[in-house]
Parts: sequence; C-alpha cells; structure tokens
Amino acid sequence: MNMKTTTAVFKKKKQIGEKITMLTAYDYSTAKLEDEAGVDAILVGDSLGMVVLGYENTLSVTMEDMLHHSKAVARGAKSAMVVTDMPFMSYQTSVYDAVVNAGRLVKEGRADAVKLEGGVKFAGHIRAIVDASIPVMGHIGMTPQSVNAFGGFKVQGKSAEDAKRVIEDAKAVEAAGAFAVVMECVPAALTEYISGIVNIPIVGIGAGNGCDGQVLVYQDMLGMYSDFTPKFVKTFGNIGSEMKQCFEKYCDEVKTGSFPAKEHTFMIDDEVIRMITEER
Ligand code: KIV
Repeated sequence: MNMKTTTAVFKKKKQIGEKITMLTAYDYSTAKLEDEAGVDAILVGDSLGMVVLGYENTLSVTMEDMLHHSKAVARGAKSAMVVTDMPFMSYQTSVYDAVVNAGRLVKEGRADAVKLEGGVKFAGHIRAIVDASIPVMGHIGMTPQSVNAFGGFKVQGKSAEDAKRVIEDAKAVEAAGAFAVVMECVPAALTEYISGIVNIPIVGIGAGNGCDGQVLVYQDMLGMYSDFTPKFVKTFGNIGSEMKQCFEKYCDEVKTGSFPAKEHTFMIDDEVIRMITEER
C-alpha cells in the first residue's frame, strides 16, 4: 500500500529544509501521472474555472464543480495529498458555511485537506474548519477570488504597508491552525522573510525561491493554456503544441483513410461474412 503524504510530512520537510512539490490536477489521468511522478500534493485548484471550464476568472466556480473534479483526482492520487480549493462564496458567507462546505469536500470530494483564500479576515473560518478535524492550507498574497477588489491579478506586498499586511496574514493563518500556506505573487525577499518567521511551510507561486515548496497550474507548465501566461510560469514542456500537432495528424489520417489501419481493426472470418452477404 502506498504511503499518503500527510500534514506531518509537510512539517518535517520544512524542518529538514526539503522542498515540497505541488501541482494542480483536475482529472483522474493527470492525477495518476503526477502521483507516479512523485509530487507531494495535488491541488484541485479553482483555477479549473479558467484552464478547464474557460471562464475569465475563478469566481463562477461552484461547489458542485469542485466536488466533481476532486473525486476524480482522489481516485488517481494514491500517495499525493489531495488539497481541494473552497470556491468563491463557499466560505466567505459564514463560519458555518465554511465548515459545512469543507466537510463536503472531504466526505463527497474525497479531499485530504482544503484550501481557502484570505488571512486575518478568515482566521476564524480556518480555526473552525481545523476544529472539525479538517486540515486547512491557507492562501495569501494575490488571492484570485479577490481579483475585482484588487483591480486585477497584481503583485502584492510591494509597499511597506502592503508588505506588513501580507506578514500579518501569514501569522494569522498559522495561528488559526493551518498546516501550510500558499503565497501567490509576492516579492521573493518578502516571502523569504516570512518563511523565516512562521513555522508552517510556505508553498510559493510567483513568490521566488525562498519558499518551502512550489506549486504551478499544470496547463501553464506544459504550455497547454495560452489565454494568459503569468511572469512566474516556466514552461517545462510544449505539450500544448504537441497535442495540436497530433490532432492535426489525426484529422489528416482520417481524411486520407490511412487511419484506422489493419492493426487497429477487428476481423471477422471470411466465411462468416460471405454467408451473411449471400443470405441477403
Ligand atoms: O486554484 C489554483 O490553482 C491555485 C493555485 C494558483 C495556487 O490556487
């Protein structure tokens, strides 16, 4: 039986300075590949609203969307911890809603942990979910569900005042009992400083190399999502253009009749087909 990555593994990795690896996935096959590749955690991110469902931001993602994709990922993740995002308005409305919806993501969505956006303002919500024995990953800095309040996807913590806000958010998330926190689009030196003053691991995305781990949206790192590529994305492979080439080749072969070939075709005994055609 495979050993699941637990919150204790996250803690240990920070203590011994071993980097945590996390990638998003939204379906069984991708989760299985990531799991086999050895990622520590798979994030069923609400980024699925953009990269899977084609919305311009994450605000329209529903609990039903998250449950559907979380279940699929959980079937493919034998070792990796499955962290599922709480979608917009599934926790902001009340502490009660936060606990009920976090519970649904675990019971129905088979998540090992949930992630929610916000620091000081949502510390009470995090505490209540943790008190219900559900591990919580925080998410601070640039929090995409606040895109309209921020006036766009912008780097956070650049001014002294804003940097202090990010620091207070990190401390609040830790004090509320989160086991880790995602820090998004924050200057590297600030992240490094925060990583030194909090005891929970910081998983960065656009937050430099001084974090305790990294997370990326897999379509971004594989060149599969061309609508918008943030500065922090490294393309590890051009799978998107490879897919397009394969689709074109398939169309050509179907049109010319070279696919399906004999090896892709089921056969019937000549005698049987002769009998059938002669009977008619
Ligand atoms: O939804 C998501 O994929 C995320 C990552 C960007 C961290 O929250």
